Amino acid sequence: MTNENKNQSSFGMIGLGTMGSNLLQNIADHGYNCSGYDNDSKKVDTVNDLNRGNIHAFSDLKDFVQNLKSPKVVMMLVPAGKIVDSVIEELLQAMDKGDIIIDGGNSHFTDTERRFADLEKKGYHFVGMGVSGGEEGARKGPSMMPGGDKKAYEILKPILEKIAAHVNGEPTVAYMGERSAGHFVKMVHNGIEYALMQLISETYEVLKKGLQMEDKDIHQVFEKWNEGRLKSYLIEITRDIFAYKKKGENHLFFNDIKDEAKAKGTGKWTSQAAMDMTVPVPIIDIAVSMRDLSKYKDLRTKASKLYPNEKELKYGNTGDYLAKIEEAFYFSMVSAYAQGMHLLYCANEEFKYHLNLDTIAKIWRGGCIIRSEFLEDIYSAYKKDSKLKHLFLDESIHESLQKSIPGIRTFVSDAALHGIAVPAFAVALSYFDNFRNEEMPANLIQAQRDFFGSHTYELKGKEGVFHTDWEDPNH
Ligand code: 6PG
Repeated sequence: MTNENKNQSSFGMIGLGTMGSNLLQNIADHGYNCSGYDNDSKKVDTVNDLNRGNIHAFSDLKDFVQNLKSPKVVMMLVPAGKIVDSVIEELLQAMDKGDIIIDGGNSHFTDTERRFADLEKKGYHFVGMGVSGGEEGARKGPSMMPGGDKKAYEILKPILEKIAAHVNGEPTVAYMGERSAGHFVKMVHNGIEYALMQLISETYEVLKKGLQMEDKDIHQVFEKWNEGRLKSYLIEITRDIFAYKKKGENHLFFNDIKDEAKAKGTGKWTSQAAMDMTVPVPIIDIAVSMRDLSKYKDLRTKASKLYPNEKELKYGNTGDYLAKIEEAFYFSMVSAYAQGMHLLYCANEEFKYHLNLDTIAKIWRGGCIIRSEFLEDIYSAYKKDSKLKHLFLDESIHESLQKSIPGIRTFVSDAALHGIAVPAFAVALSYFDNFRNEEMPANLIQAQRDFFGSHTYELKGKEGVFHTDWEDPNH
């Protein structure tokens, strides 16, 4: 079905929630005719009421598809899961072979893998694309992680490069790799996001309880951090949260929010995938677990009475101590990114995605939630050595990490002595101490496994697999 009508759209969007509508407006800003579809007529009306000459929204899927130029390009921004499959099924009734379907939601990479294979068989191009940056990113420039059909990506590239954020003149979008690569990369992005958010919230806990700082002074700490090497989107919004008061109110609004964190699941998926692949990402794991623990408010309340703090919470004074906290945060932030990048390195080996870790770091420098000054260093590290197995082994990262060791040790030990929970920092430190540990105590675990279950072990300097009867000294 070809149609030369110049009123037709170059891009179609399914799902006209805030993200979908903002992304359409972003595309339209760059001069493209585009269309939207939603089965909620209110959302369709809201988009049409924008009165943008080059955006047309439809509540009938066939009309929506017919309004697209060939090859038709349709992006779905709908909740991950079964809805994606049913939208694809409906789309196939209306689209033609050779058309392009993009899944821009946070789909699980195994679903994307299955959909890619299925649609390829049926003759459609499928692109699983992670989109990061929230509502504002969608409107002004997100970071996008497309994977799957390379030919389709080449067709989409001019539009995507225009609507992406730009860093040093370069767009924050690039082809990630084969099949489900885009969604895998986005999942790891979210895992790192969870880790960084956990680190920031633990920092707040120490500043508030350990240093007994007032919110206005904590605001200044984040403000200062955002002017240095910790500069990042998440620190920036934290600074702003520490300044936000509702109109007419005199207290910071975030203090009214319940201390029970929710999660849509991408952090958990990262941990699950990492465990399946036997890659350690403990800061992400602990970030997921601590969100889970936060939900048990009633248990925490009871236990707080049962196990009161043995010591006064307050310890350090501000001043010099803040420099230590900055070091501790830097150290743990490096580790959070390093664990995520290590997972990507291993996923690349396992799934043959053909990922380029330097390209990933490059497109994460802008537009996305984990954008940060430090991503420049990550980008440089992988640009220098695209086969780098772990960020800790990069020369310049080694240098700055080494310098922050005193800070993290002081931070973790003081918090532990005073009963303040800093699990993400503690795990960052222990991960590091074992990462640099040539002789881990895992030999003992092997001996125990063999003792109770004849699971065998390997010996130093001797090929083969062995078993001992541990209760028989003559064995
Ligand atoms: C992004 C975010 C986004 C995610 C939210 C909420 O990159 O724009 O990662 O995709 O949905 O951060 O995630 P949780 O509900 O799991 O915290």
